[in-house]
Amino acid sequence: MHVRATARAHANIALAKYWGKADPEQNLPAVPSVSVTLDALSTQTEVQFDDALEADELTLDAVRVQGRGLKRAARLLDEVRAMAGSKSFARITSHNSFPTGSGLASSASGFAALALASMAAAGLPIDRAMASDMARRASASAARSIFGGFVRLEAGAPGQRTLAASPIAPAGHWDIRVVVAVTSLGPKRVGSTEGMRHTASTSPYYGPWIEMSRGLADRVQKAILDRNLVALGEAAEHSALSMHACAMASQPPLVYLEPATLACVEAVRRLREQGVQAWVTIDAGPHVKVLTSPEQAARVAEHLASVPGVLRTIESRVGQDASVEVTEA
Ligand code: DP6
Repeated sequence: MHVRATARAHANIALAKYWGKADPEQNLPAVPSVSVTLDALSTQTEVQFDDALEADELTLDAVRVQGRGLKRAARLLDEVRAMAGSKSFARITSHNSFPTGSGLASSASGFAALALASMAAAGLPIDRAMASDMARRASASAARSIFGGFVRLEAGAPGQRTLAASPIAPAGHWDIRVVVAVTSLGPKRVGSTEGMRHTASTSPYYGPWIEMSRGLADRVQKAILDRNLVALGEAAEHSALSMHACAMASQPPLVYLEPATLACVEAVRRLREQGVQAWVTIDAGPHVKVLTSPEQAARVAEHLASVPGVLRTIESRVGQDASVEVTEA
């Protein structure tokens, strides 16, 4: 008998960034990262194994996915099949609550939901560390989306067999807000995996970035545990801009920032001059995420919405753990 499993996972935004791999084959990060899970951005994924299928099938936001996207999902399913001792292929149906592939961390919530749903559909026990490890193999930032609240993923060592993220503090620990400024709806120009490979092999700042990363992750973690928004904002901004400086120094240069991205950075700096607690962080895409307090989030969102090039803003609370439900098919 086959079952259908439906999982929901939230996106996360790294406050101490992961950029670089200790072991590209095993997808082990070269640096520790610390994230906050985002309630407003999520992926819901349904998985059902079916003996009648001749290959895995993936539908994302009502569109059939082929090629690279399907291959990455099928690789995760291969690992689940190996673990469960099964040979059946699966039908995967997934929905994002935000634009797919636009740099809004759809791979993180997507692979976290897929890991949980496929493990549950294959009849494996729901073990969060195992699901986090499984998601990490597909996309390392996805390891963090298994957990709610504030989450850390350690750096790996070459050849290491397993590596899972672990929670630092639950969502209820601290009510902070993240305002996302969406600056483009297209897919990102260079994916993270390729961007990291290029940075590691050509940027003169890659070594210094690796050296500073543990200190940054520890600074971010301490600020979270102390509930110190100023310390957290300053460390998160430093991590994000250091990561981009490192990528930009690659040859040829890797520039994810667009005019609207920089306009947001400047707008947030001006808000701070007016006494607003707000700091930016930016992933491998042009969007800007602004860390702020619940009291100041509306003002930050309103201000960002008026910045030229900002298409819309999304305000998010801290999100909960990913969840999964199993029903008999
Ligand atoms: C800039 O997790 O997408 O968002 O492991 O190669 O799939 P792969 O990379 P991915 O990289 C995320 C990079 C980042 C920073 C972060 O989320 O820590």
